[in-house]
Amino acid sequence: NIYLVVLSISQIHLVKLWASAFGGEIKSISAKYSGSQLLQKVGSKYKEFERAVRVEEIDGLRLVKKLAENMEEMFHKKSEAMKRLVEAAEEAHLQHEDDPDLQYEYFNAVLINEVDEEGNSMELGGDFLLQPNDHFNNLSVNLSLSVVQVPTNMYNKDSAIVNGVYWSEALNKVFVDNFERDPSLIWQYFGSAKGFFRQYPGIKWRPDEHGVIAFDCRNRKWYIQAATSPKDVVILVDVSGSMKGLRLTIARQTVSSILDTLGDDDFFNVIAYNDEVHYVEPCLNGTLVQADVTNKDHFRMNLDKLLAKGIGMLDVGLTEAFEVLNDFNQTGRGSVCSQAIMLVTDGAVDTYDSVFAKYNWPDRKVCLPHESPVSPSLLIVSPGSTSVFNGSAV
Ligand SMILES: *[C@@H]1O[C@H](CO)[C@@H](O)[C@H](O)[C@H]1NC(C)=O
Ligand SMILES: *[C@@H]1O[C@H](CO)[C@@H](O)[C@H](O)[C@H]1NC(C)=O
Ligand SMILES: *[C@@H]1O[C@H](CO)[C@@H](O)[C@H](O)[C@H]1NC(C)=O
Ligand SMILES: *[C@@H]1O[C@H](CO)[C@@H](O)[C@H](O)[C@H]1NC(C)=O
Repeated sequence: NIYLVVLSISQIHLVKLWASAFGGEIKSISAKYSGSQLLQKVGSKYKEFERAVRVEEIDGLRLVKKLAENMEEMFHKKSEAMKRLVEAAEEAHLQHEDDPDLQYEYFNAVLINEVDEEGNSMELGGDFLLQPNDHFNNLSVNLSLSVVQVPTNMYNKDSAIVNGVYWSEALNKVFVDNFERDPSLIWQYFGSAKGFFRQYPGIKWRPDEHGVIAFDCRNRKWYIQAATSPKDVVILVDVSGSMKGLRLTIARQTVSSILDTLGDDDFFNVIAYNDEVHYVEPCLNGTLVQADVTNKDHFRMNLDKLLAKGIGMLDVGLTEAFEVLNDFNQTGRGSVCSQAIMLVTDGAVDTYDSVFAKYNWPDRKVCLPHESPVSPSLLIVSPGSTSVFNGSAV
């Protein structure tokens, strides 16, 4: 039996409570709110508290269902807010025609409320009314306007930036509207491929003690994850005799760099081949793992164990790679549509035709926006030169 002590906690609060319980705070929360302790303390004086505190027996399953519903609704609202932003951004961008001479004064997050030696407002700055707000950690914000941050190494008035800032002004009213519809929303922002970052509510940005703001939205994890679609990747490394010495060192480095580009949404494995296949991590024989930091570091360490010897039989490696990708797709855990094999080798490759003919049959279709009709694609990374082959061309 679960006893719920109701202390006029609003529903959203309850969801928050539940969510933070996942974060390991369940102990302190239950100590704070559990009926048993409270009742012990209150003891015989319980009657006095009766009006303020209600103790009821509840159905645990129903509680969990209810919480699940609340959470679902919460996430639904968030995703609706985001969809409205995406639609507004697409529409505004479509309507906008780039003008290289466009002049446009916007509120720059760093320059607002700054003055020069004579006390005049800075260009792209000006008076920007800010008020402390409880909902935003008591930071001073402006709930009717967003501000724009431009990375330090870029020119504030660069034509591409000014044009982007100009059309994305349309997002302002969507930000405000979203916040009115769902007051539990916190920050809303838009990161542009041009580098500027529009943030709502408006807030003043200050450089760190070295006088710099290192922030570039394009380097943030959320940006990279959104800008690239999830993928399943098998990295095939040639460890035949010809890869001895420097070439193997370069190959290790190359694999490590490829791993850098993969993120939490991706799955991968690294397979070395000569006349047979060697999993870099034998425990992960025949499957793919999530490209999180721990797994990537683990694989990087195992790369040191690679030895170059024997002859390279690419078809053996490719066959394994295709089978792993195919098996993994059946599990439904991967990206389902974007799969790739990356080949790191020093040799010219001409023996893969039959393997491709067998595994990448022509009616294989890609499900999401990409135009290319066939997946997986094959990327060949050769120490020294790089060339890309699309599987469909083979
Ligand atoms: C936001 O800033 C603008 C410009 O200073 C100001 O006119 C407006 O009243 C401010 N809005 C709020 C909600 O403070
Ligand atoms: C904000 O400030 C108020 C009054 O100063 C304080 O009671 C409240 O706890 C603060 N809220 C946050 C989130 O820091
Ligand atoms: C992978 O595991 C299977 C079954 O345990 C085994 O037969 C096969 O030799 C292993 N392959 C590699 C490359 O280690
Ligand atoms: C993965 O499996 C799904 C469902 O069976 C299929 O539609 C999709 O084409 C497969 N993707 C690849 C790359 O094989």
